[in-house]
Amino acid sequence: MKAENDLNYAAIDNIYDTWKSQKGALIPMLQEMQEEFGYLPRTALEYLAKKLHQPISQIYGVCTFYSQFHLKPRGKHIIRVCQGTACHVRGIAKIATALEEELEVPVGDTTEDLLFTYESVACVGCCGLAPVMMIDDVTYGRLNAAAVPDILKKYEGGEGNDS
Ligand code: FES
Repeated sequence: MKAENDLNYAAIDNIYDTWKSQKGALIPMLQEMQEEFGYLPRTALEYLAKKLHQPISQIYGVCTFYSQFHLKPRGKHIIRVCQGTACHVRGIAKIATALEEELEVPVGDTTEDLLFTYESVACVGCCGLAPVMMIDDVTYGRLNAAAVPDILKKYEGGEGNDS
């Protein structure tokens, strides 16, 4: 992931050149920029807005409308805590509290070391395993709060789902 002041503007030029002749190409341009930078840095969006001769507010409008776009850097690992009914009934709140304590960030945020982004989601489709959280594409079911620190340690030590 690149710092905002160290952006690869040539990559934005390439993305722009690829799509500029196509109508309604803003979304694929944003998708490719996000692939390039890991998120959509403000300076990159401003640069694109100038090239497109569009107000930055219009581009921000699109970025904030679609949940696939991220305006802040994301963690290496994405933690998704299920907030569906089964998980709620089976005590996901305790898992969420344990995660917040361990990560020292609230839901929706990313740890300072950019290792984890912590999100909540609706039912992830394995209610029989409630309460459930996912880290990247690995599902952790029948969780209890005491297990959370050890699970996170696997990723902190670089042994997590790196594949
Ligand atoms: S409610 Fe959590 S997996 Fe369905």
